[in-house]
Amino acid sequence: MKATTFLSGLLAALTTTVSAQLPTNDAGQTGPFWLQLKSNDSSVDGQYLGSCHTGAAQQTLCLSGPDKPDTNIVSYLYLLNRTDGTDENEMGILTWNLPLYAGGNILQNVSIPFTLQYYPGSNVATSSVSIGGGMAVTVGFRNDTLYIPNWIDDSNFVEGQYPNITGQIQELNNFYACWVLVAAYYYQALTWVTSGAPHNRNCKPVDVVRIFYEN
Ligand SMILES: *[C@@H]1O[C@H](CO)[C@@H](O)[C@H](O)[C@H]1NC(C)=O
Ligand SMILES: *[C@@H]1O[C@H](CO)[C@@H](O)[C@H](O)[C@H]1NC(C)=O
Ligand SMILES: *[C@@H]1O[C@H](CO)[C@@H](O)[C@H](O)[C@H]1NC(C)=O
Ligand SMILES: *[C@@H]1O[C@H](CO)[C@@H](O)[C@H](O)[C@H]1NC(C)=O
Ligand SMILES: *[C@@H]1O[C@H](CO)[C@@H](O)[C@H](O)[C@H]1NC(C)=O
Repeated sequence: MKATTFLSGLLAALTTTVSAQLPTNDAGQTGPFWLQLKSNDSSVDGQYLGSCHTGAAQQTLCLSGPDKPDTNIVSYLYLLNRTDGTDENEMGILTWNLPLYAGGNILQNVSIPFTLQYYPGSNVATSSVSIGGGMAVTVGFRNDTLYIPNWIDDSNFVEGQYPNITGQIQELNNFYACWVLVAAYYYQALTWVTSGAPHNRNCKPVDVVRIFYEN
């Protein structure tokens, strides 16, 4: 598929309680950058992500080929609305600019946050950058590799004892490239596996790396 259609992105799931502890100072926007997959599976290694159409102003982040995108194709360009961190470990909201065209030129961008779409029958959540796509996922880039911060490890919860929330951050990397159904569209796209092995057996583990856009 070609990412001349729309791209979508993945976001991290936080509880509202925990995200309220994150600093929300406006530290600005980082990017734009491309997102490229690194994988031990050669069929997905090196592929760029692009926003692919899944409905009206609805996109998933799909695999869009190994060739470096032309610099003027906005479907491949993502940004980080930074809320916290350092240059080596930036945190914030991953965003994609939905272009609104007039006369062949971008009249206006609509900044859309990366979210995850969950399904009752699977632990594979699909990536989304969609109008009305739900709560933005807080993400981090450690040395330009995408992760999702997690504060709550329920594997240690004890019956009847309120858990200790230490604030210590786990940097989770449960990204996979999988053939998934998003609305009526079947794409090989970026997904997030909530925990354990992916229920969808065609999923391949990937790292998502950002490469800063240069004109
Ligand atoms: C980032 O990479 C540099 C160079 O490889 C390394 O020295 C540094 O420790 C890394 N930083 C983090 C936060 O992982
Ligand atoms: C829209 O966003 C793209 C990057 O995604 C940028 O290159 C372009 O300048 C923006 N255009 C406007 C009108 O803001
Ligand atoms: C991202 O930051 C830009 C610049 O501050 C802002 O215009 C935009 O609305 C933000 N996007 C989201 C999804 O919060
Ligand atoms: C929480 O931490 C305290 C102090 O370390 C410890 O006594 C207690 O057992 C912990 N509670 C749970 C549910 O782990
Ligand atoms: C590739 O394999 C190495 C060695 O087993 C492992 O450390 C690394 O995490 C793997 N990379 C991915 C993206 O799965």
